[in-house]
This record gives sequence, C-alpha cells and structure tokens, in this order.
Amino acid sequence: MKVDGKNIRPIWFDTESQVVRIIDQRLLPHEFVITDLKTADDAIMAIKEMYVRGAPLIGVTGAYGVYLAALHSETEDKLIAECRRIKAARPTAVNLAWGVDKVLSEVLKKETFAEKIETARDRASEIAEFEAENCRKIGEHGLPLIQEISRRKNGKTVNILTHCNAGWLACIEYGTATAPMYAAYNKGIDIHVWVDETRPLNQGARLTAWELGKHGIEHTVITDNAGGHLMQHGMVDMVIVGTDRTTAAGDVANKIGTYLKALAAKDNNIPFYVALPSTTFDWTLKDGLRDIPIEERNPDEVRYVQGFDKGSVRNVLVPPKESPAANYAFDVTPARLVTGFITERGVCRANEQDIRRLFPSGS
Ligand code: MRU
Repeated sequence: MKVDGKNIRPIWFDTESQVVRIIDQRLLPHEFVITDLKTADDAIMAIKEMYVRGAPLIGVTGAYGVYLAALHSETEDKLIAECRRIKAARPTAVNLAWGVDKVLSEVLKKETFAEKIETARDRASEIAEFEAENCRKIGEHGLPLIQEISRRKNGKTVNILTHCNAGWLACIEYGTATAPMYAAYNKGIDIHVWVDETRPLNQGARLTAWELGKHGIEHTVITDNAGGHLMQHGMVDMVIVGTDRTTAAGDVANKIGTYLKALAAKDNNIPFYVALPSTTFDWTLKDGLRDIPIEERNPDEVRYVQGFDKGSVRNVLVPPKESPAANYAFDVTPARLVTGFITERGVCRANEQDIRRLFPSGS
C-alpha cells in the first residue's frame, strides 16, 4: 500500500542486500522504522515482540524464517529444529505453522543446501504474493455487502466498526477486514469506520487509524467499551473483523474483546462479519472455545500504556505498581454469533457445511 506516495509492504525480501526487511510496527504511527531480519532468531524475536503481528503477516514472517534458518543450518535436523522454534513463537495464529510447514516441506525435497536456501526464499515470496492476492479478492467479495447497506440507506454514510488491526500492516496488502472498506471507498461509497482502540497494545488506535487516515477514509477512534452504546443508538451498520484462527465449524479466535462486540452486535441485530483468507482456517479443529490456544502475554503490556510525548515514544504506568495484571491476547467468538465469512472464494455462513462448500478440500 502507499505511504506518503511510496509503495510499501510490512515485509519484503531486499534483493540488493539479500536480507528480509520489516516495518517495526511497535513504534507506529509516531516513528517509521525499518528493521532487517538476518537469522531465525531475528524472525522469532520479531514475531514474539510484535515488530510484526497479524495472522497473515506472522505466517509470511515464519515462511521467511525458514529461509533465514536454512542460511545458517549445517544439517537438515538443525533446520527442522529451528522451524519448530519459529512455529512456537506465538501460539494463536494458525498462519504461522501453515507458512513454516508449507516452505519446509518444499525445502526438504531439495538435495543441496544451496537449493534449499533458494527454494525457501522463493516459496516465502510466493506466500507473500498469495496473501496479497487473497486480500484483494476478500475486498471484491466484501464490497457487495457494503454496497447493499449503502443502497438501503439511500447513499447515506455506512458506519462500519472494526476491532484491532486487520489491515495491510497485518496482511501484506489491503488487509482482511479493511479490504472491503478500501473497495467501497474506491467505488465512491460513503463510509465511516469506528476504530476500537484495542487495548492493551492499541493496534486499532495506532495502526488501523493510521492506515485508514493515509488512504483518506473517514474514521473515528473509540474506546473498546464504546461499541455497544453506538450499536444501541443505530450508529453502527455492520461489524467487520479479522481472525487469527477459525475452526472448520466457524468458531473465531481474534483479538481480545472481539467476542463482546459480537454479543452486542447480535443483541442489536447488526451483521457481524469475519474476513479471512483460507490460510487462517484450522481444518483440524471444530470446537474453538475448547481447542484454540489463547496466548497470554506479559502483564506489563496491560500495566503500561505507550504514547508519544515530548518528541518520543514513551511508556507510562497506569495502575498502582504493586497491582497484578493479566494479559489474555485473544478470545473466541462462537460461530452462532457470526453472520458470515468473507473469504477469497466468496462469502459464506459460519457453519461447516457452508465453509466446506467454498473450500471442499480444506485449503
Ligand atoms: O496480537 P496481534 O496484533 O497479532 O493480533 C492481531 C489480530 O487480532 C488481528 O485481528 C488478526 O490477526 C487478523 S489480521 C488479518
């Protein structure tokens, strides 16, 4: 996507320097820093510390991680062990294991390490292109849903609520939840986006607001608790969120707080859509509540809030310094609260039969 007139992605392979480059998302929107990944440890650190985040991007970073691991592994056993470590960097987004396994299985077919390295790099780049294209198609398939609401409202503003950042920073290009928004905006439909700030790391306030603003899309940042009130007062026409892992039966793991938005949407008869590429389905799981691993992160992310002050990015402590905090990073929204999925193959309802109709072979 374009930032100040320049095309940029959240990750890319730089052919000149032969390194993987990423945008360090921890510092956005106040500082724009590009960092190099040179080893598997760099990739693991970037995923764990959330320099990169968002399910599809974590998957692509894992895929490039296999390339970085291959560069520094003397044996296949070592390479396989490194890939295991990369997959364990974050537990919830299924795209990570998918990306690593996809590249590793191709790499293991090659004889020499020179071939393995080249294959890993090329497959990782292909996965990045695949995810970009998936998101473009999600935009195409989501557009009619927004068009329909706009028609019903006689062209009046369509208000869309989103949670966290399921934008291009999380997904290479376009985003998942944001792709239909860009498609609608580019068609001249009047839209406005309510952006949940998304505590504790404020991916909505920092990243989604920044992305939408750069594209000229009207948006308003709200506290995480405001959505229910807005829905009760007719100020939300639809909700679109992303997901980190969705079961074959349609249960959705996404950023903590998503479930509460789904409940409020249901209570107010507001469509609640989840936009995702097929790489975010976990075809092995049915019961999301029971089976999806929920990441628990450092409680300091809850206790401290990051912001821009006197020319630099700083952290400040909010609760009493002795108070413990808990940091559950994701929750699961049961399929019964989801109106539909917007995928690269079209829109379907949140049940196994409909999902399998779009993805009969589970991929
Ligand atoms: O902890 P994060 O920032 O990696 O969480 C990201 C989300 O919850 C996104 O909504 C999800 O990955 C979908 S991204 C298309």
